[in-house]
Amino acid sequence: MEKVRIGIVGTGYIGNVHGRIYSRDERTEIAALFDIVPERAELTAKTIGGKVCSSREELLANCDAVLVTAPNKTHKDIALSAIASGKHVFCEKPFSIGIEDAAELRTAANAGKGVFQVGHNRRYAPVYAKLKELLQSDTPHSAHIKMNRGELKNPVWTGDVNVTGGFLYETTIHLFDMMRFQFGEIEELVAYGSQHEYPEIDEFSIIFKFKNGFHCTFASSSDASWHFPFERIEVFCHHRTIMTEEMERLFDSRGMDANFETLSYHMSEKEEKWGYVQEDKAFIDAILNGTKPPVTADDGFKSVELVESVYKAINTGERIKF
Ligand SMILES: NC(=O)c1ccc[n+]([C@@H]2O[C@H](COP(=O)([O-])OP(=O)(O)OC[C@H]3O[C@@H](n4cnc5c(N)ncnc54)[C@H](O)[C@@H]3O)[C@@H](O)[C@H]2O)c1
Repeated sequence: MEKVRIGIVGTGYIGNVHGRIYSRDERTEIAALFDIVPERAELTAKTIGGKVCSSREELLANCDAVLVTAPNKTHKDIALSAIASGKHVFCEKPFSIGIEDAAELRTAANAGKGVFQVGHNRRYAPVYAKLKELLQSDTPHSAHIKMNRGELKNPVWTGDVNVTGGFLYETTIHLFDMMRFQFGEIEELVAYGSQHEYPEIDEFSIIFKFKNGFHCTFASSSDASWHFPFERIEVFCHHRTIMTEEMERLFDSRGMDANFETLSYHMSEKEEKWGYVQEDKAFIDAILNGTKPPVTADDGFKSVELVESVYKAINTGERIKF
């Protein structure tokens, strides 16, 4: 069987995470690397192989599937050129920045001849897959969700709103996608935000109401320290609380007393615990077997729509209805 030739655009932190995973997958071959800082691509080539390309065009001529792993603002253009060349595309989150760009990319992705998958890795993290499984046999009533960071300094561009599109695009969007995955489609939201540490709104309190009647509160801060757990979902059902702690642990407390069961994933490798291995496998499954990629361009678009709606709610004071 011919191997799927992988091309990586942006060989920084996450490009190398996916690259290492594909270098171990017998169905794939690291074929081409491109980074605007060529030394970074050269360093990556030393560890996982691949031809260091001097342009995106050269990369496209040497691969079947493109991983878009450069900073947020570049995603749309890189993804559009890969789709136009008939490639399969794995696009890191965020799908793109702004509704217009997201709509343009969605249209192109859905019309493209290759697979298009968005890198919302947490859907595959065992802790969140388990939460979904538990919620299949119960009815969640409400939840409290948080998604914090300690700083917007590493990588340096995470503090530049012109590159990220805003803090919500960089960090919070992970659990916006997770909310849809766990609890369904959103009907309306109200949001408050304020600015403290960085030159953008960097602190958020949001209330979401879902079409099925479920509702939740959501807190997100850019500079709350990296105190564990920086992300958590607490779900409340009938005489039951299920709580997650990052990708490490899940607690399931049922009944009228204080007993609870703990599931711990702390012994797994980070690449599996965070769902990267599983999402990368799903992308190749979709290419080779024709299965639907689990996080589609439509999902990517909806995350962007949620981010934009929260900013709009804060800037206008309006309640947003979908
Ligand atoms: N899903 C996740 O868990 C996750 C984790 C980290 C990052 N990300 C996303 O992945 C993307 C990259 O993040 P990172 O942490 O790897 O950043 P990074 O700064 O470590 O790496 C980005 C690389 O892209 C290169 N680059 C910049 N502009 C480019 C261009 N136009 N063409 C080619 N290369 C370019 C940079 O030189 C750098 O080497 C971001 O969009 C980020 O939001 C997702």
